[in-house]
Amino acid sequence: MERTGSAPIYVQCNPLLDISAHVDEAFMKKYDVQPASAALCSEEQKPIYADLENQKDVCYIPGGSGLNTARVAKWMSGKKAPVTYVGCIADDKYGGILKSSAEKEGVTMNLEYTEKEATGTCAVCINGKERSLVANLAAANCISGKHIASPAVQASINGSKIFYLTGFTLTINVEYVLTVAKAAHAVGGLFMMNLSAPFIIQFFGEQLKQVLPYVDIIFSNEDEAAAFSEAQGFGTKDIKEIAQKAAALPHEGPKDRLVVFTQGKDATIFATKDKVEEVVVPAIAAEKIVDTNGAGDSFVGGFLAALAADKPIARCCEAGNYAAGVIIQHDGCTFPATPDFTI
Ligand code: AP5
Repeated sequence: MERTGSAPIYVQCNPLLDISAHVDEAFMKKYDVQPASAALCSEEQKPIYADLENQKDVCYIPGGSGLNTARVAKWMSGKKAPVTYVGCIADDKYGGILKSSAEKEGVTMNLEYTEKEATGTCAVCINGKERSLVANLAAANCISGKHIASPAVQASINGSKIFYLTGFTLTINVEYVLTVAKAAHAVGGLFMMNLSAPFIIQFFGEQLKQVLPYVDIIFSNEDEAAAFSEAQGFGTKDIKEIAQKAAALPHEGPKDRLVVFTQGKDATIFATKDKVEEVVVPAIAAEKIVDTNGAGDSFVGGFLAALAADKPIARCCEAGNYAAGVIIQHDGCTFPATPDFTI
């Protein structure tokens, strides 16, 4: 493992190629896509990808929530933090695009290859100002316990201090998530998870419940925070109260649990069970915002890069907000050669 003064970061998620296009109401209705939602694709929705590829403005962008975060963390660290990404793809064109684009940016791709399915894709349906995501995990769903136990992944785990898994990993096999969570603590690292989407909280609540005691830092946006509050029966819609109540849930980590909630242009909240603070988000003129795809993912990327450099949490939030601010001024999760932000 290279020595850089930055703690090594381990990210695990579903590698997906985003297929993005503008669509009309009829398209949304045809595939039963809810506005501004993120969901897994049903059998009936499978033709959506071919249909999107026939739209005249279709574009292909490396995506997958955790891969966005890994790429941004590497970029924000000035390429200093060693960042390893673990997931499963196929040896096909889309898999090749995902692997090479992340490797070009310096992310170590520790991938499993499957022959059972094609590389995963995510339909990004842009209808007016709203964007809805329908993920077809395909190869990503085939990640195996054998890969997690492989010498290459074990070496990454043993050499890392910051572990980040998206909530989306809970849809595959909770045992894989628990294995990494426990290993993270065994090597003296911090285990972090994003709630990722309301459907994770609503339909994978049992899996989330098993993992939560190990989660040292919880990330989410305000919609997921509200869904979490409802699922936990917190009886509040106040974002600061939700953060503190989430922080106070049973936890087996080395320090008090931290909860970080983003709220778009509104202040970022961070809380432990005893204290809640906020960090102002620098204003960005509406006409400068190209698309908010990956805002939350890139916030976490910036946050992790600053945390890897041992910065205080308020500074980590500032780094996250800077990174997200840059990404929303570019198409998809893309960024200029170097960040104009010193961690
Ligand atoms: P997407 O839904 O775009 O992910 P995201 O990163 O969560 O972005 P959002 O736009 O939803 O942001 P947010 O609500 O989390 O954050 P917030 O608005 O609080 O999807 C991204 C990826 O997910 C895709 O690439 C896709 O492949 C993948 N995906 C889908 N399904 C998947 C699955 N099953 N498995 C794996 N991957 C999957 O904003 C965060 C920060 O941004 C703020 O704190 C602020 O700093 C900044 N910001 C936002 N808005 C403003 C503003 N108006 N002004 C200034 N700053 C702003």
